Amino acid sequence: MAAGMAAALALLARGGGPARALPFGCVRRLHTVYQSAELPETHQMLRQTCRDFAEKELMPLAAQLDKEHRFPAEQVKKMGGLGLLAMDVPEEYKGAGLDYLAYSIAVEEISRGCASTGVIISVNNSLYLGPILKFGSEEQKHKWIAPFTGGEKIGCFALSEPGNGSDAGAASTVARLDGDEWVLNGTKAWITNAWDASATVVFATTDKSLKHKGISAFLVPMPTAGLSLGKKEDKLGIRASSTANLIFEDCRIPKANLLGQLGMGFKIAMQTLDAGRIGIASQALGIAQAALDCAVDYAEKRMAFGSPITKLQAVQFKLADMAVALEGARLLTWRAAMLKDNGKPFTKEAAMAKLAASEAATAIAHQAIQILGGMGYVTEMPAERHYRDARITEIYEGTSEIQRLVIAGQLLKAYRS
Ligand SMILES: Cc1cc2nc3c(=O)[nH]c(=O)nc-3n(C[C@H](O)[C@H](O)[C@H](O)COP(=O)(O)OP(=O)(O)OC[C@H]3O[C@@H](n4cnc5c(N)ncnc54)[C@H](O)[C@@H]3O)c2cc1C
Ligand SMILES: *[C@@H]1O[C@H](CO)[C@@H](O)[C@H](O)[C@H]1NC(C)=O
Ligand SMILES: *[C@@H]1O[C@H](CO)[C@@H](O)[C@H](O)[C@H]1NC(C)=O
Ligand SMILES: *[C@@H]1O[C@H](CO)[C@@H](O)[C@H](O)[C@H]1NC(C)=O
Repeated sequence: MAAGMAAALALLARGGGPARALPFGCVRRLHTVYQSAELPETHQMLRQTCRDFAEKELMPLAAQLDKEHRFPAEQVKKMGGLGLLAMDVPEEYKGAGLDYLAYSIAVEEISRGCASTGVIISVNNSLYLGPILKFGSEEQKHKWIAPFTGGEKIGCFALSEPGNGSDAGAASTVARLDGDEWVLNGTKAWITNAWDASATVVFATTDKSLKHKGISAFLVPMPTAGLSLGKKEDKLGIRASSTANLIFEDCRIPKANLLGQLGMGFKIAMQTLDAGRIGIASQALGIAQAALDCAVDYAEKRMAFGSPITKLQAVQFKLADMAVALEGARLLTWRAAMLKDNGKPFTKEAAMAKLAASEAATAIAHQAIQILGGMGYVTEMPAERHYRDARITEIYEGTSEIQRLVIAGQLLKAYRS
């Protein structure tokens, strides 16, 4: 076992507080159902500890966080202390030194407890730290990764704009060099963690004539002069995570805050999203698992026509289809993570995982409500929240349509070569 893994597991073993009663429709001790013999032992341990943390710290709170649109600051801080917010960051930069498979497992388990918390940690890991680790200079890694270790600071990733999301190459935010400083102008839209972040990776055009090859990436501290936040978006789901515009008006940052080479921004964004999609796939798995747990738990207890509704074949068939969709998506997700861990190309596999897991999550959450009947439709049970939370996984980090474009493009390229 890697030293980093051992240290992280030792920390994780201390995670969580005392066991509390779970809300209706939330199920404990899933490990008796899923043995996950296919995982290495260390990852099984990590899975169990993240699961315990989610059950103790997140499940009892998730409905309230959702209702109040409240950022789970205390829980995020605890997870930071456990290494869950900088999972594949080497120990020299104070990360947990784990791999992407471990990261996928952690995001799934955390999202099973609270999907908002899942995306909060996914953004810090994949979208903020990922590009700095991969493209940052040694100095930038020390400056923008290591000092954040208190567990209080998180980062965000600003690519989308009000006028262009899927078409990220059309972004119109500009950066102009003025002496020793870059001056940023423009509006970034839908930025996850915006209200709670201490830094952002932002993409801006440095040479418009070059189109997407004229986009560069920058590191911007938050708050900073010339950068303001838009209103918090009032969302359908993942309501405990903040989403807002970042508005740059003559925002000056040091010249040294350019991340990677000039003009490399689009490539950095695309490679970052390849990895990020494994995180979103994992978030979708967690939501789907929570919805399935809820449906089974309820169906075992609910009586109709003299017996529990799990006796009805119509209900059994639904449960079977939900389980197949979920486990298929999980295997795709783990495969994408393992390809990344082995230094192999994984663009197509990450897109497949994200597409399959997000569509599975939406379908599973939909059927969970059906199995609960009227109880599926009210906030006493978590099924309606899973349904709302699932929906975003088909939209951000590339819509399902964009995933299909990526997959088809890669597939055709492989056939033609
Ligand atoms: C809650 C939330 C959090 C987010 N977090 C972040 C974040 O942290 N950072 C960030 O940069 N962005 C973030 N986003 C933005 C998100 O990535 C975009 O919303 C997404 O990429 C879609 O872009 P759009 O909304 O502009 O839709 P559009 O690009 O306008 O798409 C509209 C529709 O057209 C379809 N479409 C577009 N182009 C094509 C095509 N070529 N082929 C087929 N169909 C197409 C789309 O699939 C979609 O169905 C977030 C969004 C939300 C809602
Ligand atoms: C987010 O990642 C940074 C960089 O590793 C880390 O230092 C920080 O602790 C993370 N945030 C939290 C809240 O843990
Ligand atoms: C991108 O969106 C911005 C508004 O956010 C708009 O001003 C710009 O024209 C758009 N770019 C293209 C090429 O459509
Ligand atoms: C940024 O926008 C302001 C107006 O808001 C304008 O005065 C300034 O020249 C712009 N700077 C750049 C670098 O485009």
